[in-house]
Amino acid sequence: MTHAASPALSQDELKTLVGQAALDYVNEGDIVGVGTGSTVNRFIDALAGIKSRIRGAVSSSEASTARLAALGIAVFDANAVDELPVYIDGADEIDGHGHMVKGGGAALTREKIVAALACRFVCIADESKLVPVLGRFPLPVEVIPMAAHRIARQFAALGGHAALRHKDGAPLVTDNGQHILDVAGLSISDPLAFESQVNQWPGVVTVGVFAHQKASVCLLGTAQGVRTLR
Ligand code: 5RP
Repeated sequence: MTHAASPALSQDELKTLVGQAALDYVNEGDIVGVGTGSTVNRFIDALAGIKSRIRGAVSSSEASTARLAALGIAVFDANAVDELPVYIDGADEIDGHGHMVKGGGAALTREKIVAALACRFVCIADESKLVPVLGRFPLPVEVIPMAAHRIARQFAALGGHAALRHKDGAPLVTDNGQHILDVAGLSISDPLAFESQVNQWPGVVTVGVFAHQKASVCLLGTAQGVRTLR
């Protein structure tokens, strides 16, 4: 299927374009892994159009679960499936190798769990998310609250500046009851090693580098249409 764009598409329209293009990776009878965020919301809307042809979805957040359910798409518990054919999710940054930074929507832990169940990770994003080196977007890290200050000091030793994410004047609480640190000032030249390193720190629930669970395919929305990176 061709998904062409005209030159004047807005960022929202590019998200719609890649959300629709991701349907090409969904097959009859699938249970589909579904991510979180504004781009994925466009995918969920498109998925609703073929809901009678799929079995349902495994969702990575309460927000996506609510949207899927409202559109009449069955949502399965992650523990009810052994494997998913495909996981479709957005990213805050992606490099040319499929390594990503994720967690802008605070759903990174469940996103990594659902991605780990999937045979294929299809990333959908507008072209502003493509970077040569990860680190421009402040890196989200889900942490156990009592470890937040210590983890912030560990990032400072790497040259990063960690800030506790707030919502409505209070520390944001994730779907898992934890907090998020956003770490600015990093340049992540070896995403695999970086992800492994930070995941070892006590109190880190999940670091928002997705290198071990990288994208198999990325559908990038551009003024020229959908560009596929493999
Ligand atoms: C949520 C995520 C999102 O995929 C990421 O933040 C991109 O979101 P959007 O499509 O709204 O730009 O990782 O935790």
